[in-house]
Amino acid sequence: MDKITQSPSHVLIFPFPAQGHVNSMLKLTELLLLAGLDVTFLISANDHNRLSSYTTVHSRFSIYPGFKFHVINGLYDGPMNTGQNLSLMMADSLPKVATPLLRNLLLDSHVTCLIADGIMGFALDAAQGTGVPVLFFRTISVCAFWAYFCIPKLIEFGELPFEGTNMDEPILNVKGMEGFLRRRDLPNCLSNQALQQISSITCRTPEAHALILNTFDDLEGPILSQIQKHCSNIYTIGPLHAQLKARTLSKSAFSNSLFQEDKTCIGWLDQQVPKSVLYVSFGSITTLTRDQLIEFWHGLVNSGKPFLWVIRDDLVSNTGENKVPSELEEGTKERGYIVGWAPQEDVLAHPSVCAFLTHNGWNSTLESIVEGIPMVSWPFFADQQVNSRFVEAVWKLGLDMKDTCDRKIVEKIVKEVMEVRKMEFTESALRMANLAKKSVNEGGSSYSNFNRLIEDIKMMDV
Ligand code: UDX
Repeated sequence: MDKITQSPSHVLIFPFPAQGHVNSMLKLTELLLLAGLDVTFLISANDHNRLSSYTTVHSRFSIYPGFKFHVINGLYDGPMNTGQNLSLMMADSLPKVATPLLRNLLLDSHVTCLIADGIMGFALDAAQGTGVPVLFFRTISVCAFWAYFCIPKLIEFGELPFEGTNMDEPILNVKGMEGFLRRRDLPNCLSNQALQQISSITCRTPEAHALILNTFDDLEGPILSQIQKHCSNIYTIGPLHAQLKARTLSKSAFSNSLFQEDKTCIGWLDQQVPKSVLYVSFGSITTLTRDQLIEFWHGLVNSGKPFLWVIRDDLVSNTGENKVPSELEEGTKERGYIVGWAPQEDVLAHPSVCAFLTHNGWNSTLESIVEGIPMVSWPFFADQQVNSRFVEAVWKLGLDMKDTCDRKIVEKIVKEVMEVRKMEFTESALRMANLAKKSVNEGGSSYSNFNRLIEDIKMMDV
């Protein structure tokens, strides 16, 4: 067939319905549309409504005639901050609702390939016999992916489950991480069942036609080479948000927020001294107890640094529990600014921001890396424990508080990153930021890998 008159390749994209997943898979979608492909994006009714309320996604995407949302009704849309919720969603409600729907779409419409979130193993089953290739996209880091992949080996060699309570015990059976990985750095999923599900789904990745990862080779090359022994067709194309900005020559962020952004914090940042502010955010899923909130609050105020803190309405499980303690009112008024949700990419790019106290969700970690912002890590669950270990021990981009939550430690680590070792961390963060930007510009590894991915998809139609 004459390739010029052929209709564009049509990609079906299906993210797991949560902020960090929808966000990065929409970025991927925008890149595919820019490359001239057609995309149908599967989304829960709840997320679809939230995107239309809080973002410009609908008008941004309306310029692409080949784009459409396919809204799925009846998906669980409650919190996913417990192992039980996560586990039920992955093993039960999501596959039940989505498998027949996915299968019909793959059989009925002209679809070149399906790019499914790699934590949804049922997509492989739904596509079986349809002849449509499935590519997996993972929203996590290569290092977290590899740790999940090695869980069966850790069980085989008796490193999991733990015997004893020494959390500093080294872990020896995750190849490439022998020198620094400890028990406390392993993925923690709040329940063994959810962890095992994620691990067994991860081990199915080699069944997919390809694996697409939101990372770049200069950051995770050594661990990537371990995965390549199991998955031959890998595309590292991140940081996606930076690739999108580079390809559109845009300076502003492409927001895909499922929460209402409070942009007043940019005005507050404008009034602060350059490189003086600590930005604090724990992403979209993390929850704190009231006690943990209070420890953080004391630590932040006592550090004496100006801070911009994202306190989501549901950050502390019971409403009303996220109010400022009376003894901290003055210090908070003096130095703090609190919002329910921030325009995070713009915040991290702001010249007043010096460091990021983060849960090390992978999107947040990449956004911090691209802007050259050192991190104070407080991982909550899943991939974040591995990410925070890499931030401190491998990439030297900050310090990892790990499983401690004490006002004295918060104060000490914040001062360490923003004062005592500020120069050291800022320099290594800027070095990594340059590598990240290089990777997404013409000739860079992620730029070239994305072009290869497009060619691979187009070849599927021939
Ligand atoms: C979780 C994960 O742990 C993550 O690693 C995985 O890839 C997806 O699921 P989440 O906890 O939401 O995600 O964290 P993260 O990956 O950092 O994503 C949060 C996103 O929300 C980021 O893109 C961030 O920019 C955005 N955000 C967060 C805002 O826009 N404003 C905020 O106030 C906070």
